[in-house]
Amino acid sequence: MGQRAVREAGALLARARRVVVFTGAGVSAESGVPTFRDALTGLWGRFDAQRLATPAAFADDPELVWGWYESRRAAVRRALPNAAHVAVAAIEARLPGTVVVTQNVDDLHERAGSVAPIHLHGSLFAPRCSACAAPAPVPPAAEEPGEGRSAPPRCGRCSALVRPGVVWFGEALPAAAFEAAVEAASACDLLLTVGTSGLVHPAAEIPLVAARLGASVVQVNPGETPLDGVADVNLRAPAAEVLPELVRAAWGVDVA
Ligand code: APR
Repeated sequence: MGQRAVREAGALLARARRVVVFTGAGVSAESGVPTFRDALTGLWGRFDAQRLATPAAFADDPELVWGWYESRRAAVRRALPNAAHVAVAAIEARLPGTVVVTQNVDDLHERAGSVAPIHLHGSLFAPRCSACAAPAPVPPAAEEPGEGRSAPPRCGRCSALVRPGVVWFGEALPAAAFEAAVEAASACDLLLTVGTSGLVHPAAEIPLVAARLGASVVQVNPGETPLDGVADVNLRAPAAEVLPELVRAAWGVDVA
């Protein structure tokens, strides 16, 4: 990784007082959790994720869609937080008031020690009733994690089908979460965007809100994104490799 870019980003982090860390699927990639743009595998290989992650797909075939989310939850349960998640938690520990905003539906930030990440797209661990929205119990880790269709449970209150607690394409983001994310982005002096393609709105607005209001922006992504022109520093490297380097450059602290 270009050491000059890491030093520049480290200086921005060392000076920062109010940090927002905005993450996408790339921060969990090195934990073995496929990014959303990775090709789907197994039973779902023939589907495009954007077709499965919709209310219509669930209405049309609840067992196919529920089974897919069960297999994704099983994969997350088998995964471990990686050095990027640990570095993000280290930033929070060093700078209380840091806000983590994630598009991910896994719980790896929490398991790495992040206190209360804002989940803009919900969570695999927050199923709810598809009719009355009552929270439903998280199904226990199956001995043999499903790789197939699976019948969704029924709501204990109204008996309608339980659905995954994630935001599907075409659905609105949870208003409170989005407002909290915009508020944090409006008040920060540094926004660190990590592992997101920056393609899906309105979540992708968050780094732009921070940049428009004068915050510095550091991007961590091995690939190119629409944020390349917005970022003050682009760290073109995998997050698990470069986030620990960034924390070391800022504070001389070794994480993970
Ligand atoms: N470190 C950092 N970034 C990485 C790594 C890595 N090791 N590996 C991949 N990436 C980057 C890719 O270059 C890509 O830009 O992570 C990004 C993943 O992009 P997406 O798969 O589009 O995931 P994300 O940006 O989180 O998608 C946003 O869209 O698909 C919906 O709801 C879904 O929350 C998701 C949202």
